[in-house]
Amino acid sequence: LLHHVLTDDHDFFDYGCGRGDDVGLLGRAGIKASGWDPQHRPKARKAKASVVNLGYVVNVIEDPLERERVLRDAWSLTKRVLVVAARLADERDEAHVAACRDGWLTRRGTFQKFFEQDELGSWINGALGVESVTAGPGVFYVFRSSADRYEYLNSRFRRRVSLPARRRSDKVFEQHRTVLQPLIDFVAARGRLPHEQELDDDHVAELINAFGSVRQAFRTILWVTDESDWDRIRQERSVDLLVQIALSRFEGRPKFGALPQATQHDVRAFFSSYKRACEQSDRLLFATGSLEALTLAKRASLVGKAMPTAVYIHESALADLPALLRVYEGCARAFIGTIEGANVIKLSTEKPQISYLCYPAFSEDPHPTLNQAVNVDLRDRSASWRDYRASPNPPILHRKEQLVSPSHPRYETFARLTRQEERYGLLEDGAHIGTLAGWTNVLSERGLTLKGHRLIRSRSQVTRSGDFPSL
Ligand SMILES: C[S@@+](CC[C@H](N)C(=O)[O-])C[C@H]1O[C@@H](n2cnc3c(N)ncnc32)[C@H](O)[C@@H]1O
Repeated sequence: LLHHVLTDDHDFFDYGCGRGDDVGLLGRAGIKASGWDPQHRPKARKAKASVVNLGYVVNVIEDPLERERVLRDAWSLTKRVLVVAARLADERDEAHVAACRDGWLTRRGTFQKFFEQDELGSWINGALGVESVTAGPGVFYVFRSSADRYEYLNSRFRRRVSLPARRRSDKVFEQHRTVLQPLIDFVAARGRLPHEQELDDDHVAELINAFGSVRQAFRTILWVTDESDWDRIRQERSVDLLVQIALSRFEGRPKFGALPQATQHDVRAFFSSYKRACEQSDRLLFATGSLEALTLAKRASLVGKAMPTAVYIHESALADLPALLRVYEGCARAFIGTIEGANVIKLSTEKPQISYLCYPAFSEDPHPTLNQAVNVDLRDRSASWRDYRASPNPPILHRKEQLVSPSHPRYETFARLTRQEERYGLLEDGAHIGTLAGWTNVLSERGLTLKGHRLIRSRSQVTRSGDFPSL
């Protein structure tokens, strides 16, 4: 649901659905859902569906041949995408006491196979003869059509479209506003003019009728907007495409003819040929192996909190990082997929390592606490988890505005708090304020407290001094 792989246009079949909790949940959400389970719903029918789920089933099957047969059977029911989830090696706990075949048995004799992330992907690819896509830790998607697969992969790297502002008014523009709007939306989304077959026929006819050609129509748009805004959009879209092509290597880069028609037009418009686009993308991809290049990109970046050994960025600003850093992060994502709840990403410039950090109250808490962290080591392709939820003194964030783009809706709120805290000299002692206890001490020593994103005197101080500070 989070990845829009399942929407209410699709039906859903849960293969090995257990007691059917997920089927019930989706049904109540308006999705046509059914499920079968050999133990809990043996009489239900195995049905073909657009989205088939094989969730935490293959890891309970002891016989490797049976395991593979189940995977193939689920694939045979899949019309659009198969979702395969299995438990990962670091989920094994002390309950799993005895090694058994390629897995483990609990004291009660229940079997669990714990996969490595790479192992699970390769096993699926080998058994089905299709290149799967990493969705998250222990979760893979297998798409039936390469167009759907491509669409999903690209959606991960798409940035938000910002339309250029109007800078002057114009009679012709106002008169034809509704005809021009779809053209504006197209150019903002793709960074180039459309080919006639990319707009619907009626719309092209209207544009030609009013302006003579699509190109002429765009001239009118240019007259009321800033040309430099459109140049920026074109530049952003071409960088987005480079990043996509660079990272497509991990999923088996498609041939030019296998790209969607619109992407073929993008490639021609921005790079003149696919060969040139691939060469530039590969240079970018291989440069991620150089810590010096990553450090330079960190210094050049207009967004992100640059620290001596890393840069931190909020997920909303990821696409605003320099292309090299985006590809660097994409290498980790190609391996681990999306980490649910991770909203801050740390890109190390000291070792090839990306960390996905979960700050559940990022927006509302002035100094959010770190809940969980997943470190992806790109050298040995491994991931490790750290859980801070029970920690009495978890790391916290300061200067949140540095993590987001200036266009973030709360940028000014975050920045105003930082200015206040700087005025009080609270951010100077870097060694202590990085964790919850240290920061709380600093605040109470100074008789200060936080009310939302505002620093105020604590109650006892107010009674003593009689008023709030003028900050
Ligand atoms: C850990 S449960 C997962 C249930 C559900 N998919 C979920 O995610 O909540 C594993 C399920 O796999 C089912 N299962 C075991 N062997 C199976 C097989 N050969 N084919 C299909 N399902 C199987 C079990 O009956 C059990 O309900």
